Amino acid sequence: MSSPQAFHHLPVLYEETLSALSIKPDGVYLDGTVGGGGHSEGILKRLNGEGRLIAVDRDLDALASARERLKAFPNVTFLHGNFHDVPQILEGERFDGILLDLGVSSWQLDQASRGFSYHEDAPLDMRMDRSKGQTAADWLNATPEKDIAKALYDYADEKWAARIAKIIVETRAKTPFKTTLDLVSAVDRAIPKAVRRKDEGHPARRTFQAVRIAVNDEINPLKQVLLDLARMLNPGGRLCVISFHSIEDRAVKQAFQLMKDPCTCPKDFPVCVCGNKPIVSLPKGYPMSASEAELNENPRARSAKLRAAQRLP
Ligand SMILES: C[S@@+](CC[C@H](N)C(=O)[O-])C[C@H]1O[C@@H](n2cnc3c(N)ncnc32)[C@H](O)[C@@H]1O
Repeated sequence: MSSPQAFHHLPVLYEETLSALSIKPDGVYLDGTVGGGGHSEGILKRLNGEGRLIAVDRDLDALASARERLKAFPNVTFLHGNFHDVPQILEGERFDGILLDLGVSSWQLDQASRGFSYHEDAPLDMRMDRSKGQTAADWLNATPEKDIAKALYDYADEKWAARIAKIIVETRAKTPFKTTLDLVSAVDRAIPKAVRRKDEGHPARRTFQAVRIAVNDEINPLKQVLLDLARMLNPGGRLCVISFHSIEDRAVKQAFQLMKDPCTCPKDFPVCVCGNKPIVSLPKGYPMSASEAELNENPRARSAKLRAAQRLP
């Protein structure tokens, strides 16, 4: 395990998120993606002796750093796991606020050995939770070509999805994927050099994003989980979600819209007969993006979007 002190991640939209959570000093809060504990520290500073925080992360190294950073606070409970499982694991618990800061942290991205980066050669792992599941190499070596193409398209809008998937399958037939640079090289052979645009960044960027999302199953369960978590809020409690790319944000936006307006009756029905009642309202002013001042300090906040939903009585 890496040293917890080495963890470096600037919490994005920090003040905006704490304000969106509208923290009650004696409330109960869930940080489903505690990471380095930046946002959690802000929440804990606003709680009194009655307030509590449950801090979850699926990455044991992240959890160790958060424990170290937050050791002065007695009212925090750490939980190793996936926030997707919180509705089952903490069934019956009620929260006054829930924060999800989705995706991977800068620290995870920068740790070459985790296999998230296309800049350095390392084992092709990409699991946030290294205690279980398929690595990215396992996934690339076993997944049917059409499913790889679908993941590249669905999770990264990669227009070369079909060609990259074809080259991946041809490559693995000769030599199975082992390292990050094996994948970079396959993408490099798949995307014609003549069509590459400088403003699109590294040619492997989208492929790495898609494979990471697939390996960690980040998107498919998200909508349902947001609905289940919103049901765990006390009246007036806030669900705040920070997303980092359009695919994540689309899932969050759709889930919030569905919770605000779940009625499935045809528009011309005079009264609702489906019986689906709204469970949240959407406070004005969201989604919120990082200010110029934050972007100057932390360019990685550029794509961050904060959305908030408030549980109805
Ligand atoms: C962007 S970072 C969070 C940073 C944190 N807000 C801070 O201030 O340091 C995302 C963290 O969430 C974790 N994570 C992502 N998806 C998760 C999930 N489904 N369940 C639990 N943890 C998750 C990652 O391991 C990572 O540590």
